[in-house]
Formats: sequence, C-alpha cells, structure tokens
Amino acid sequence: NVLILDFGSQYTQLIARRVRELNIYSEIKPYNNPPKDLSIYKAVILSGSPHSVREGNPPHPDLSEIKGKKPLLGVCYGAQYLAHFHGGEVGQSNTREYGRANLSMIKEGEPFLEGVSANSQVWMSHSDTIKKLPEGAVRIASTHDVENAGYRIEGEDTYAIQFHPEVYHSTDGKKILENFLVKIAGVAQTWTPDAFVETTVADLKSKIGNDRVILGLSGGVDSTVAATLLHKAIGKNLHCIFVNNGLLRKNEYTDVLKQYEGLGLNVKGVDASARFLDALEGESDPETKRKAIGRVFVEVFDDESKLVENATWLAQGTIYPDVIESVSATGGPSATIKSHHNVGGLPDYMKLNVVEPLRMIFKDEVRRVGATLGLSQELLGRHPFPGPGLAIRILGDITREKVRILQEVDHIFIKGLRDWGLYDKVWQAGAMLLPVNSVGVMGDERTYEKCVALRAVESTDGMTADWVHLPYEFMQKVSNDIINKVKGVNRVVYDISSKPPATIEWE
Ligand code: XMP
Repeated sequence: NVLILDFGSQYTQLIARRVRELNIYSEIKPYNNPPKDLSIYKAVILSGSPHSVREGNPPHPDLSEIKGKKPLLGVCYGAQYLAHFHGGEVGQSNTREYGRANLSMIKEGEPFLEGVSANSQVWMSHSDTIKKLPEGAVRIASTHDVENAGYRIEGEDTYAIQFHPEVYHSTDGKKILENFLVKIAGVAQTWTPDAFVETTVADLKSKIGNDRVILGLSGGVDSTVAATLLHKAIGKNLHCIFVNNGLLRKNEYTDVLKQYEGLGLNVKGVDASARFLDALEGESDPETKRKAIGRVFVEVFDDESKLVENATWLAQGTIYPDVIESVSATGGPSATIKSHHNVGGLPDYMKLNVVEPLRMIFKDEVRRVGATLGLSQELLGRHPFPGPGLAIRILGDITREKVRILQEVDHIFIKGLRDWGLYDKVWQAGAMLLPVNSVGVMGDERTYEKCVALRAVESTDGMTADWVHLPYEFMQKVSNDIINKVKGVNRVVYDISSKPPATIEWE
C-alpha cells in the first residue's frame, strides 16, 4: 500500500494511475488531512503543487513519522519541500522550466535510476528551482538547465526529483517509480482485479452485515459493477432502482432492465419520464436543465427508497476521478456526492450511510473488475452517457417531440457504429439536436427542418478529446439514413472540434 500526499497538483491522479499500472495499490490523501495510521503504508510519495515553498504560508505537513522512517519520494513541489525545510534553498528559476527536457547527468550505480537511458526525456513544470540541496543530500540527476533535478538523502530511503515521472512524456518515468517502489521500498506487485474483488466483497460483508442497501443504477459501467460487487457480498439485501428520466437512448430503459434481471440483480424500474419532462418544460439554460433533472431525480429516488423498509445504506458507483478533489480548490476531501451522479444533495432526513465500493479505482480498472465478475464485454465496453442524458444534447428547450427525434437519430448513428465495427474504436459518440432550422428539398418540396450534429471522440478520461476520423462511406450512409428515416430532420453535420477548446457535450 502506497500513500500519495497530495499538494494539489493537476498530475496527482496520474501518479496514482502509474502506481496502479505497476499492480501496486495506492491512495491519494490531502497533505492537510493525512491518515492517522501510517503503519499500513510501505512508501510515501509527495506530489507537485501549484504552491511555492517561498510563499508566506506554504503547505508543510509534519513528516516526522515518514521522513527517514519510510521510503519517501518527493516530486516537483515535493522535492522542493524536502529541500527547503531541511537545510536546502529554493529560489525562483532564471530559465524556463516547463515542458520537455533531457537528463544530462545520471549518477552511476543508483538503483533508483537503474534502466533510465542516458538522455532520457523528462517533463518539467515549475518556476521554482532547488538552488542548494538539503543536508545529507547527494545529487543523482541533472538536466541542462536544472542542476538539481534529482537527489537522495544519505542514510535514508528519501528521494526527490524535480521533474514529473508520472506524465506520459517522461519516457522513463514509470521505470523510476517502479525502481522506487519495488527495488527500494520492496512493495509487492500484487494488486490485481481478482484481489480487489476478494477484499472488497469481504469488506462490504463486514461493513454492511445484514443491513439493507439501496443503489441507483444508471445502466452505465460504474453503477453496474458496483451493484454486482454488492450483490456478491449481500445478495437480496441490495435493492436497486433504475429510473427512466425520459431522456435515455431509444429502448434503453427496457433493454437495460432486462439485462439487469439477467444478472440476477434485485432491481426495480421506475418510469418517471413524465415528471422529468414536465419539470424541464420551457427551460433552455444548460445548468438550469441539469439542476432540474438532479432535483427530480432526488425526489423520485427519495419516494422509491421509502418503499424499501429499513434501508440504512446508499450505494453509489462513484469512481476515483470523481472523488479526488484538488486540495487547493476545496481545502480537502468532503463526503459530497457529486451532482453529476444525479444523487446530488440527498435530503438530510434520509440519513443513509454512503457506501462506494469503486471509490478508489479508475475507469479502466472498473472495467477489469467487471470482467473478473463475469460481466459481458458488451456491457463493459459501453460508451459513457451523461446523467442528464439527451437533455444536454437537445440545445435549448426540451419537448417530447425533440426527444423522440433525437432518440431516432442517435439510434441510427450508434447502431451504425456497431454494424460497421466502429463502436469500440470510439470512446464516446452521440448526436446533438440543434436549435436551428434550415432549408432543404425533398421530392420537389421545400423543407424547413431541424439540423443534427453527430459527434464521435477518442479520449482516455474525457478530460481531453479529439474527434474521430470516421470513414466517409460510413458518414454518407448514416447521414442518408437519418434524413430519410427521421421525420423532422433535413440536415446532418459532423463535429470536428477537439476538447479543449470545445467540450464533448454541446451543453
Ligand atoms: P464535457 O462535455 O465536459 O464532457 O467535455 C466530459 C464527459 O462528461 C460527461 N458529462 C456529464 N456526465 N452529467 C454527467 O453524468 C453531466 O452533467 C455531464 N456533462 C458532461 C460527457 O458525456 C463526457 O463523457
């Protein structure tokens, strides 16, 4: 078990990811609220930070139980921190130290840098630099511009690097993390999906006992895997609720319900379409629409959960990226349930304990866990779909007719992707109904109808994305099908914007 102390760097999550890729379990904790019991951690990594040690009151947690006692690695701010507070000196750097750099010196015979190539590319992102090493330090790496790019402390398992080993562009970064964790800290590489399922199921059993749990299923990968894990642990005491908000894909409500029943889950379908669509009437602002959907969801969920007698737990499919909040932004983690899970702000009186079995794992790990649990590839490979559903793909106000049009369009597009073997090559795809009419001609008649935009993107986490170069023949077929089959649409366009600067959804 590895502890990552987060100082608020945008790359902290990536450290955890790389560590997990080595089959080693890691946890991110904010620097200002570190775990009380450190005995379970075999190594500690200090992240980077938007802060500077030269600020009036820089983040400086007490490391007396860690430094010199456990293997410790400081990255970027972590490295500066270990210098500044232990007799070294950090100052503003005179040269630009952002982006690509290459190591120009690697000290020989250092297990920490074993296997790192002579000119290895590293990624820098800092404006402070370590001018003087701390007491007892030995320099182990430099770049052309940064003399103290890496050091260790004599007589301790303390290491520090100014560059970011966790980013993809640091070519040997993963090797360095492996050297630190495996060679130096002796951490075992045993963190596998099977092990995760086994320990999670055991934990859930002992935590929940004979209590009843309610869980809102969305049809997506996360909530389904969470439900399957809980089902394995507590069986029929898990009560799942699947709400139709009227903004799902065509046939999705019935298809998904059937699929859940096939999995043996105790699931109740609640068709609340009318409640949602009524609440959305006349609303055209994206955030207002999201809020309205969130509010109705809570009402429906609340009504339904009251029907489950003696339920004391609420389970959610929250995954790690949803949990990690930037320390700088929030001052630490909170138990807030994110609104994009559509369970935002449950009424206080519900007084349910929250259980989130996937809280510590990433999306790709969720899929691996799902596969271990025997879920089908079809289910696990489903594209992400936003909680507010088609509401944020119908630009402007929502009517039942617009939902029908978009469901038909989306269905032709997605089915087309499947039929052409393209579905799995795309990270997410969907159609947007635009609030514009344009002139067309059908037969000899003038038409003045809706325009839809198709969007297909590749991405790894939705944070950045690029449009997919779908084959022209495919686009031609899909466009024809849409215009000929969906009444009310006479024009199809394809979105060729990347994120950033655009976003994946149009609202
Ligand atoms: P954007 O549009 O921000 O989307 O580039 C990134 C990813 O998040 C999804 N998304 C949402 N998911 N509730 C959700 O559950 C929302 O309000 C929401 N908005 C965007 C989007 O589908 C994409 O996968």
